Amino acid sequence: MSKKTETVQSYWDARSELFGNYYKKPSSFDRVFRKGVYERQAVAIKACKAIPNATVLDVGSGPGVNSVSLIKNGGASHVFGIDFAQHMIDYANATVKEENVADKCNFVLGDILTYDFAGQKFDYSCALGVFDYIEDAQALLSRMSQLSQKSFMGSWPENGLRMALRRYRYTCPLFHYTEQQIIDLHSKAGISRDKLEIIRIGGGWATVAHK
Ligand SMILES: C[S@@+](CC[C@H](N)C(=O)[O-])C[C@H]1O[C@@H](n2cnc3c(N)ncnc32)[C@H](O)[C@@H]1O
Repeated sequence: MSKKTETVQSYWDARSELFGNYYKKPSSFDRVFRKGVYERQAVAIKACKAIPNATVLDVGSGPGVNSVSLIKNGGASHVFGIDFAQHMIDYANATVKEENVADKCNFVLGDILTYDFAGQKFDYSCALGVFDYIEDAQALLSRMSQLSQKSFMGSWPENGLRMALRRYRYTCPLFHYTEQQIIDLHSKAGISRDKLEIIRIGGGWATVAHK
């Protein structure tokens, strides 16, 4: 039986609660097999913490759990989240309200590749679990570089068994990377190797690029 294919937007629009629960109610399976989700969050928080009172762009902000953590644990002064799935935006607004940080967060519905930021820039930006779904990774990385004044961070899935299992289960397109591709993408976005931290995490890598 052939599986139904969906766009990334409709795929995530239907899964806000499911993804939110990876953080809010993690199962033992999540803790073991989705270790990378928690590891990349830790990298994002550490990089944010290195910039006092950072203004942050959370690319593909999803359920908003990372946005809360960027404020509470990363010391961010404000988080601007963007996601193109309406249910993720609604879920994120509810999450920040529950966590009493709604006054420091703003979520907009939009595609990160086309949204008009009208000249607005951020100290730091992060894209957690987003490059997995982006066909033109160079366009996103270069955009993050332009929008970030101090540093920007991303997570990058590798090919392998986990990716094969995801491709079997997921009904939307998925992309993977090699370490060399990640270095080349950064180089084309104006980040030389000595300004790039590459950290091994479950299922791939997390990167922090310094301007
Ligand atoms: C796997 S979820 C990760 C959510 C969140 N960053 C986290 O780690 O908890 C990926 C999110 O990226 C969003 N997304 C993917 N491509 C996007 C795009 N081009 N513009 C805006 N949002 C996008 C999806 O809608 C989804 O909510």
